[in-house]
Amino acid sequence: MIDARASPATLAQQAAVPSSTNLAINTDEIMQWIIDLRDPSKREFALLELSKKRDSVPDLPLWLWHSFGTMSALLQEVVAIYPAIMPANLTAAQSNRVCNALALMQCVASHRETRGPFLHAHIPLYLYPFLHTTKVSRSFEYLRLTSLGVIGALVKTDDKEQLLVVINFLLSTEIIPLCLRIMEQGTELSKTVATFILQKILLDDTGLLYICQTYERFSHVAMILGKMVMKLTREPSVRLLKHVVRCYSRLSDNPSLIFSLTLDARVAQGGAGQNVKVRAQQALKQCLPDQLKDLTFKNCLKEDPSTMNWLRQLLTNLEIDGQVLHDEELLPK
Ligand code: TRP
Repeated sequence: MIDARASPATLAQQAAVPSSTNLAINTDEIMQWIIDLRDPSKREFALLELSKKRDSVPDLPLWLWHSFGTMSALLQEVVAIYPAIMPANLTAAQSNRVCNALALMQCVASHRETRGPFLHAHIPLYLYPFLHTTKVSRSFEYLRLTSLGVIGALVKTDDKEQLLVVINFLLSTEIIPLCLRIMEQGTELSKTVATFILQKILLDDTGLLYICQTYERFSHVAMILGKMVMKLTREPSVRLLKHVVRCYSRLSDNPSLIFSLTLDARVAQGGAGQNVKVRAQQALKQCLPDQLKDLTFKNCLKEDPSTMNWLRQLLTNLEIDGQVLHDEELLPK
């Protein structure tokens, strides 16, 4: 069952690899499956059974991480399908199998005690080749979605110090362009998870500064968000709109935020390398789609007052007096 209120990382998992929650837990059985992961002939079955139990066994991440040979078995599953990525011929069975391994990695990435070591071992990097793929077949879509779910689980922490470590890792490994491409081309579900990851990065001060450091980065992000708004007018999605609006409102947050724009030599008569300071808010105001100012999304916004609040804050920050701010049914209660 898919829970519509679940977080994007959970959504990704539920869609790609359903887990069965209410089953009785037999610890001995689980321990045996973990041991079986080391045996290539028993691995596929053990992966399937363990991934079904991942939500009902709170200590599973600890057992997976600390048991002998388990993480390397999961990593072997991941690298084993690289040859099926390029050239692209991943079968449904291969995709299901590796997604079960990824579901267990997500479980490790979600736990407070194993998230740090998992990141420190740089295991998420092995999933980046999957995020690079662009094939739209179901087996590739599941693979991207489940991989995004692992990254989503990393950023889903309330521990500020840990979040900073995660975000610094993601920034230094250039995850943003990968997310942006999925935000542009993915299915609604993977777009939602990718936008959630970008949102978590933006909400962090380091992340916001990183994106606003150059005009190219800022405008790339703004351009993709703009394209998403256009697509959303044709295919509305309340949960996707929520993350898009939150990303925009965060970009508009800091009034003193400025970034250096190195003007092109042809534009700047003074020659290349001339630095011009531009206010992020000014740049955002110029490229904000009209659909966020008028009543295009009225129905979505009516359903989700918190998104309406973020939109109100966005327009206020940018000093835009949009029609959406005056609609009777959308006024704050
Ligand atoms: N190498 C690019 C950069 O650091 C990566 C990148 C492309 C990027 N588009 C981006 C980073 C948008 C942040 C935002 O600029």
